[in-house]
Amino acid sequence: MLRTHTCGELTINDINKTVTLSGWAQISRNLGGMTFIDLRDRYGITQLAFNLDWDKNLCDQARAVGREFVLQATGEVIERQSKNKNNPTGDIEIKVTILTVLNESITPPFVIEDNTDVSDEIKLKYRYLDLRRNTVRKNLELRHRMAIETRNYLDKLNFLEVETPVLIKSTPEGARDFVVPSRMNQGQFYALPQSPQTFKQLLMVAGFDRYYQIVKCFRDEDLRADRQPEFTQIDCEMSFVEQKDILETFEGLVRHLFKAVKNIDMPHVPHMTYADAMNFYGNDKPDTRFDMKFVAITDIAKGKGFPVFDGAESVIGICAKGAAEYTRKQLDELTDFVKRPQIGATGLIYARHNSDGTIKSSVDKFYNEDDLKQWSKAFNSEPGDLILILAGATEKTQKALSELRLEMGSRLGLRDKDTFSALWVVDFPLLEWNDGDPNLLASLAGRWHAKHHPFTSPKPEDMALLKTDPGAVRANAYDLVINGVEVGGGSIRIHDKSIQAQMFDLLGFTNDEAQKQFGFLMNAFEFGAPPHGGLAFGFDRLCSLFGGSDSIRDFIAFPKNNSGRDMMIDSPSEISEEQLKELSILSTVK
Ligand code: AMO
Repeated sequence: MLRTHTCGELTINDINKTVTLSGWAQISRNLGGMTFIDLRDRYGITQLAFNLDWDKNLCDQARAVGREFVLQATGEVIERQSKNKNNPTGDIEIKVTILTVLNESITPPFVIEDNTDVSDEIKLKYRYLDLRRNTVRKNLELRHRMAIETRNYLDKLNFLEVETPVLIKSTPEGARDFVVPSRMNQGQFYALPQSPQTFKQLLMVAGFDRYYQIVKCFRDEDLRADRQPEFTQIDCEMSFVEQKDILETFEGLVRHLFKAVKNIDMPHVPHMTYADAMNFYGNDKPDTRFDMKFVAITDIAKGKGFPVFDGAESVIGICAKGAAEYTRKQLDELTDFVKRPQIGATGLIYARHNSDGTIKSSVDKFYNEDDLKQWSKAFNSEPGDLILILAGATEKTQKALSELRLEMGSRLGLRDKDTFSALWVVDFPLLEWNDGDPNLLASLAGRWHAKHHPFTSPKPEDMALLKTDPGAVRANAYDLVINGVEVGGGSIRIHDKSIQAQMFDLLGFTNDEAQKQFGFLMNAFEFGAPPHGGLAFGFDRLCSLFGGSDSIRDFIAFPKNNSGRDMMIDSPSEISEEQLKELSILSTVK
């Protein structure tokens, strides 16, 4: 070994020991007679000391060391005169006797320290330097711990980790596929898995019973802070189970992770139906760290001559506790917020429940004191509260109010990153009508689309509706939501070949198309498919949630930027004509 200790472990108890450390020069300080180098490795920073009186040559050598040089230093551990209480090794330093430059470094494009103001693009381009920073490294350490604890928990419950292929055939999970041309089968393409969905179901047919895999998935979709084109799932499947068994097993996993990684005792995770989530929060992944539920006042608000409410399908609002003192400027900001094109409300109505008990609304002209008292009763408002109301078409208004609710939650400090509130959202609709979702192929517009995926089983009590009112059929599907983030989702699967065929039919596949795309699965179901179900957690999302960040990029060693580019290796990139020719796709490119 080129070291006897790491840069994070020496303390006052090691005084007088002769040690050898290796690492990177964080900074070198020349103070005339003394020169100090902060030597850094993944475990910490230890100060190396050089004194003109001890050894002039060594001192000269130390002064020539630049940022990020790789050094090996041997010397004696001595007590520091001016101690640094902020550093675990801050009581000691090394009186260096041998200094070896293992490698030099050119000047890095940014300083390797916790708070650096360099742009994200530069950090991604030099990700290997960014990864030297404590904050980024700690995120990956957290990710490692999460993976180990996941494996520990699932292994104890008899889950087998099985790898499934990466070069597969398209699986329709709701996004576009990344495809890979095949040289040996000219004109044909593999697809990268959007998830191992069909394989894990085949493993159930194979009798594997309890499967999991921490696995890369690939989706060609619009990117956001919580979406990467390649991301990782904790993918799981179980046989001979019902929905409640799956929810219990994986609630157990989440509780185990919270306890083992963050020492938090998670309470039992409540269930909420999709319908309630939409009615109370306008969102299928509500942030339940705070209450502020929607209240519909359509009945009492209409018919008083206020045209906006009179013409609206729904009049709904929220009660923001303690916000009655909001200034005109703050209310204007909120109005601008809801009017942004992404949110799309036409305006915001408010009513202040003043501390003297009076209620004043922005539409006093139409609503008298008694009317406003009725509002207050509906919202359960108290003196000091602010009622915020939107009106319009129900779905659109719910969506806009959901954004306003989250904004108010943030403004009122109710979305603390160290508070965790988990929720199972259950009974999702089986299907949704695709009006031309930009994330889907254009050819899929104007037909039903599986909300989860086509292998999800309808709720048995809704089976009859499949023929008469497909949009009303609820699925045996569930999502785990924590702090408003969808961290996982899954379903009980269809294991009956005829129901699966009926589902493909509803989704607009002809028999031939279904056979061509999923024949392998339907054929397998002829050989005794057990009842089964499962789910997948978004591993990156789970890690970022545990790490208190909104961006999953911070928890991925080598992430892509918002345009799906890897800035470091400069990918995607063109390939040579020779490669294109071999793949027989030259003609489509030129
Ligand atoms: P689903 O499509 O809901 O289900 O995905 C499961 C979880 O994966 C995470 N996720 C993502 N994370 C980062 N970037 C992305 N682009 C991305 N897309 C999804 C989310 C999501 O909850 N095969 C089914 C699971 C099953 O039914 O068992 C599936 O993939 O956290």
